[in-house]
Amino acid sequence: MEELKKKAGVAAAQYVSDGMVLGLGTGSTARYFVEEVGRRVQEEGLCVIGVTTSSQTTAQAESLGIPLKNIDEIETIDLTVDGADEVDSDFNGIKGGGGALLMEKIVATLTEQYIWVVDESKLVTSLGAFKLPVEVVQYGAECLFRRFQKKGYRPSFRSKEGKRFVTDMQNFIIDLDLQKIENPWTLADELDRTVGVVEHGLFNGMVDQVIVADKAGIKKLNAPKKDIRKKM
Ligand code: A5P
Repeated sequence: MEELKKKAGVAAAQYVSDGMVLGLGTGSTARYFVEEVGRRVQEEGLCVIGVTTSSQTTAQAESLGIPLKNIDEIETIDLTVDGADEVDSDFNGIKGGGGALLMEKIVATLTEQYIWVVDESKLVTSLGAFKLPVEVVQYGAECLFRRFQKKGYRPSFRSKEGKRFVTDMQNFIIDLDLQKIENPWTLADELDRTVGVVEHGLFNGMVDQVIVADKAGIKKLNAPKKDIRKKM
């Protein structure tokens, strides 16, 4: 599995060229992309500016000597490469397994070319077997939790080392055990309108290309050309 993740991450780094502003994703697959960009910076003198999607990726990029800018210092991002937890055949996806969905979505909305790197296990016919992460503000989080319970969404607060997990943006994550999401667009709309929800892990129609690694090699799946990415 690790080999496949690496293959996908390294393949995506081929899209990187001098002068680019790069969105650096989070997770065990995106880290191989960041590692490869770092290698090229060090060994080939590649000149790029990185914008990170989590404190974890910031630490990795800094350790590799990739120059970084704060998101507020840039206008647009040329290319972002990130991982995903599930991807369906309509190029909708679930992200946020690593808890970085809010920063990841903000970076995605500023991105010209948005690529996901995954191994074949992430391709699904319908979304929802992976629990959908919903980032909520701490104030009133229990009320939201009970509301999700009533709706039958089988919520659970994410925890880490026995404590409630707090995101880089100081919010909680409620994971929804939905099993099968019939309509990701309707659900995204409902969550977008729920007060107290900061963001959710449904990334519908945002990705331009998915790089999939399987035992046979690399497949590049291109999303239909339409820009329905939410622009800020
Ligand atoms: C981070 O919050 C996530 O969105 C990750 O990009 C996603 O969970 C995929 O991670 P892996 O590549 O580790 O499976």
